[in-house]
Amino acid sequence: MAGKSKVLIIGGTGYIGKFIVEASAKEGHPTFALVRESTLSDPVKGNIIDNFKNLGVHLLIGDLYDHESLVKAIKQVDVVISTVGQQIEDQVKIIAAIKEAGNVKRFLPSEFGLDSDLNNAVEPGKSVYAVKAQIRRAIEAEGIPYTYVASNGFAGYFLPSLSLLPSGVTSPPRDKVVILGDGNAKVVFNRETDIGTYTIKTIDDPRTLNKTLFIRPPNNTYSYKELVALWETMIGKTLEKTYIPEEQLLKHIQESPMPINIFLALSHCIFVNGDSTNFDIEPSVGFEASELYPEVKNTTLEEALRRFV
Ligand SMILES: NC(=O)c1ccc[n+]([C@@H]2O[C@H](COP(=O)([O-])OP(=O)(O)OC[C@H]3O[C@@H](n4cnc5c(N)ncnc54)[C@H](OP(=O)(O)O)[C@@H]3O)[C@@H](O)[C@H]2O)c1
Repeated sequence: MAGKSKVLIIGGTGYIGKFIVEASAKEGHPTFALVRESTLSDPVKGNIIDNFKNLGVHLLIGDLYDHESLVKAIKQVDVVISTVGQQIEDQVKIIAAIKEAGNVKRFLPSEFGLDSDLNNAVEPGKSVYAVKAQIRRAIEAEGIPYTYVASNGFAGYFLPSLSLLPSGVTSPPRDKVVILGDGNAKVVFNRETDIGTYTIKTIDDPRTLNKTLFIRPPNNTYSYKELVALWETMIGKTLEKTYIPEEQLLKHIQESPMPINIFLALSHCIFVNGDSTNFDIEPSVGFEASELYPEVKNTTLEEALRRFV
């Protein structure tokens, strides 16, 4: 393991965090997860904790709101990755602890979506990204070395329903589908294991120091209409399609309660604006993951979708 950075993940027991912890341990990085004491005894999180133990992950008891525990954990590592969910704003506490610890070579804040600066989200999605952008500015102001990961969509969230709206369904629709806008904007969804792999690839890479890693492999980039057509071919059936024009979607966002309005605003951003793909990646800003790491054989959206047939 000589030469491999020691990595601390804060939020490792969360949805995306567990994939990043696993990728870190499997890449041979000495891996630490900051875990709240209550989580260790939580039966729902038991499998995740057992998996961490099997992977040789060091569990450190701590809390985002316990400064001493953060500093103590951070002092043991080189790289800090945050995958907190609801506490985006409170990552200022991680920034303060990193400053105090003084040893961190790279910090990856909790991003893992569209680029926080390069999107055209309408409210309330706009505020979600504004808070992430504020954290970026705080990191930059403190001079902390960073990498931002614009992972685009989580395939595991989207593919089971072909929608971002929480529905509980476990397989894509076989009768009808709703298409937002004209369905032609290019969107990107990546498998969570690949997001973990690319994220860990970046931490010791000098090319991504103070840059953004955009995960948008060409084989995971489709328009919504193309994705539906792919699914139709796989199941040998044509779906009934309902188009929702942009004006109607914007009205729906305004009239919907929380958190549906957030999911709809993010859907507008991704499926109507095409904010995953509607910009070129400037080398001064960052790099595309599959170009930087061609050795990673990512799961294609086609392969991921085929599992539902
Ligand atoms: N691109 C996409 O499609 C997509 C989808 C969803 C989310 N995201 C983004 O991904 C990131 C992570 O979201 P997520 O849904 O994976 O989060 P999540 O499942 O809610 O996990 C949050 C993690 O933070 C931990 N945590 C909460 N409070 C804490 C505290 N006080 N101290 C220490 N740890 C604490 C949780 O620990 P416990 O296990 O103890 O609760 C958990 O490990 C966010 O930036 C989110 O916006 C992207």
